[in-house]
Amino acid sequence: MTQELTLIRPDDWHLHLRDGAVLHGVLPETARHFARAIIMPNLVPPVVTGADAAAYRDRILAALPEGAAFTPLMTLYLTEATDPADVAAAQASGLVKAVKLYPAGATTNSHGGVHDTDKVMPVLEKMAEIGLPLCVHGEVTTPEVDIFDREAVFIDTVLDPLRRRLPGLRVVMEHITTEQGVAYARAGGPDLGATITTHHLILNRNHILVGGIKPHYYCLPVAKRERHRLALREAATSGEARFFLGTDSAPHVDALKEQACGCAGCFTATNTLPLLAHVFEQDGALDRLEAFTSRNGPAFYRLPVNEAHLRLVKHQTPQAWPEKIFTEAGPVTVFNPGFPVFWHVES
Ligand code: NCD
Ligand code: ZN
Repeated sequence: MTQELTLIRPDDWHLHLRDGAVLHGVLPETARHFARAIIMPNLVPPVVTGADAAAYRDRILAALPEGAAFTPLMTLYLTEATDPADVAAAQASGLVKAVKLYPAGATTNSHGGVHDTDKVMPVLEKMAEIGLPLCVHGEVTTPEVDIFDREAVFIDTVLDPLRRRLPGLRVVMEHITTEQGVAYARAGGPDLGATITTHHLILNRNHILVGGIKPHYYCLPVAKRERHRLALREAATSGEARFFLGTDSAPHVDALKEQACGCAGCFTATNTLPLLAHVFEQDGALDRLEAFTSRNGPAFYRLPVNEAHLRLVKHQTPQAWPEKIFTEAGPVTVFNPGFPVFWHVES
């Protein structure tokens, strides 16, 4: 029997689109299935001011395929020089929906990020006042802290003190990867949300390292132990309003992934929805997929849910997707979960 599932058209609350040739290559993959996405600002140079965000939004809109109905929701990259008035104006005009905090050095193109929280307090106070969410890459960068512990240490030493200092600040814990992240998100009120990626519901650290190193499974925050993956599955499939999809689809051309020092990022825009249907079905939670992909995110961001829908069908035979997306900067490998997937997006 064929199974079908109709969802309110999903949104992606954490997406990397890049710029130039890669933007042109990968944007159709997201626009095909998603109505809106929170666009990460870690370009080179980063999207720091309202003017930068307006120009980047225009480049994204210009790269959209004919007839695509997709709205980029822009973010600003928080630096120690960010001007609170510029942030407030960018929100007031409707351009910017969040500000992104990268601890300096935490991940791809984050060297301009924040070293000292004290220096950004005026911006954060303004954001609390106007209700603009802070999207947080929650990892410390202290060399002494083991990479697998960086999220948990960030929660204790940076995030929790910050939220106590500024209780009105609305925060999204992005791409949580640990049971500590799940527990902390659950202990927060309606001003705390957490995104979960597709690949962190599928991978644990063995997938990256056992049987040879898999560069296309390397992302940041790095996938953790199996018990953490299971905690993320439980959270994502719970239907709870605080958890929503942020794919963190992060394209890098193969030449930059498959080398001695490979870039971090999994490219999941193409097949995220079939993979999520697979995961939610496995966990007996297909009836809660729509909350995760289409309802909880808009509720947190105080936006209406989408009017359009999207239909998924489960076929009798495994479904295929392209192994790579070809861009003028080079091929980008699509995330391969390593198991057959029978779900397909039909419309
Ligand atoms: C992201 C990228 O490549 O921009 N990489 C990743 O592994 N997720 C940066 C990020 O979100 O950490
Ligand atoms: Zn990201």
